[in-house]
Amino acid sequence: MQQRSAGAPVLDLRGKVALLVGGGGQGIGGHTSAALARAGAAVAIADQSDEALAAARALLPGDARVEFIRADVTREEDVHRLVDEALAKFGRLDILVNIAGGTRGESWGPMLGKNSEQWDVTQMLNLKYCYLAGKRIARHLIDAGRPGAMVNIASMSAYSAPNHASYGAAKAGLIALTRSMALEWAPHGIRVNALSPGAIDTPRTRARTSDELMRQYNAILPFGRKGRPEEIAMAVLFLVSDMASYVSGHNLLVDGACTIKFSGMGPGGQQ
Ligand SMILES: NC(=O)c1ccc[n+]([C@@H]2O[C@H](COP(=O)([O-])OP(=O)(O)OC[C@H]3O[C@@H](n4cnc5c(N)ncnc54)[C@H](O)[C@@H]3O)[C@@H](O)[C@H]2O)c1
Repeated sequence: MQQRSAGAPVLDLRGKVALLVGGGGQGIGGHTSAALARAGAAVAIADQSDEALAAARALLPGDARVEFIRADVTREEDVHRLVDEALAKFGRLDILVNIAGGTRGESWGPMLGKNSEQWDVTQMLNLKYCYLAGKRIARHLIDAGRPGAMVNIASMSAYSAPNHASYGAAKAGLIALTRSMALEWAPHGIRVNALSPGAIDTPRTRARTSDELMRQYNAILPFGRKGRPEEIAMAVLFLVSDMASYVSGHNLLVDGACTIKFSGMGPGGQQ
């Protein structure tokens, strides 16, 4: 790790190549891509639309080494292709960050009203692609005899997901998958961690949050506000850097103490 010239010290990822799946947009994806690029990494950004890729470009530093790949992670063939394209463009990969996730269509609501098709899409979008991409990159690193680092973006919903059973199950599965990957690939020097955001103010969540709902959030969240995507990006940066060289199989909650407050049974989290 070295400190760089101006401003606040940053971690040095020069010489590393990172693939960010769902690294587009102006939410957690775009800000994490920008943070890794500012730390010196070359970045391959995969996302589902040209708009999301263009939005990420606007956040990147001018001197970023970047390649954009359009892919939909709910399609298995796209997941294989995006890894292959990233490898073809840069010749190597050292870091994988799996960010794409969330829900598609009407996934909120009691599970008795849901069908297995909705279940399957949510598992693919939050869990299965991470398994596919992780395995493909682990094979690349092991064959090349090089260490690597991976981060899977899970969620505090892994612990409690009222009216959101398929999403909560997928994110809990992602944390379990992360632990298995960490153990299996530790002998090869590959670290794998999960990061679980709390309530983060991203364009996706803002679109479904009225001003009144935002006021209600701010009133009950321990820090009086939602988290910012940059605050997730900084935690990812730590996990993929050499500062976390002995951290693997961990799930880092970045939730501003939210899950502590709401794990109690009564108002204000008191039991
Ligand atoms: N925002 C929050 O409050 C919050 C809380 C907990 C967990 N998370 C998790 O953090 C991650 C990012 O969340 P966000 O709020 O920034 O969301 P987001 O919708 O902005 O997603 C990040 C990027 O993933 C891309 N993406 C979505 N579906 C895709 C697909 N099928 N194929 C390829 N790319 C796709 C989006 O286009 C976007 O650019 C998700 O995994 C989400 O579950 C978010």
